[in-house]
Amino acid sequence: MADGFALRALGALELDLASELHRDAFGPMGERVWMRQDIAELLASPGVSGLLLQADGKDIGFALCRAAADEAELLTIAVRPSHRRLGAGRALLAMVVDRLRTAGVRTLFLEVGVDNPAASALYDHAGFQAVGRRAAYYRRGQAPAADAIVMRLALN
Ligand SMILES: CC(C)(COP(=O)(O)OP(=O)(O)OC[C@H]1O[C@@H](n2cnc3c(N)ncnc32)[C@H](O)[C@@H]1OP(=O)(O)O)[C@@H](O)C(=O)NCCC(=O)NCCS
Repeated sequence: MADGFALRALGALELDLASELHRDAFGPMGERVWMRQDIAELLASPGVSGLLLQADGKDIGFALCRAAADEAELLTIAVRPSHRRLGAGRALLAMVVDRLRTAGVRTLFLEVGVDNPAASALYDHAGFQAVGRRAAYYRRGQAPAADAIVMRLALN
């Protein structure tokens, strides 16, 4: 629990909820929305875990990560549009990082679109450093695909 937020595991029966959170976050950006089958396949793959963020008993955000040995990747993170700019994203990221650190992860990677200033600011403030760039990585509907910046955080 941090600042009124609580974290719980994303259950195997909550695929529709996770897909809805993903759709509300990434649909407006023109990204392909992860359907329940996509999320089920991810959760079934080695090292992947899902977490839900709650505020006042409501599920307001989620994150998926993949861990392998002492490295992990943040596959996605999202907060409901109605609950943004209230510290939820920062709290969710901090709790994910804490869990990974406790599990022995030493380095966390992620990718963020060059056209995503909200997420970029969140990661910058959390201490992530840019370490690479992937050209035309994110589909953006009718608009040209956006490059991704690869970022890394040392969890020591
Ligand atoms: C990115 C996201 C998770 C942030 O969630 P949030 O709950 O609004 O974030 P917070 O309120 O905790 O904000 C933490 C910091 O992030 C930055 N930030 C968040 N939203 C921002 C925005 N719209 N513009 C600029 N900076 C922003 C700020 O530095 C903010 O700190 P501040 O409020 O003290 O200025 C949310 O905007 C989201 O779900 N976006 C769609 C999905 C997405 O882009 N995920 C990341 C993919 S890489």
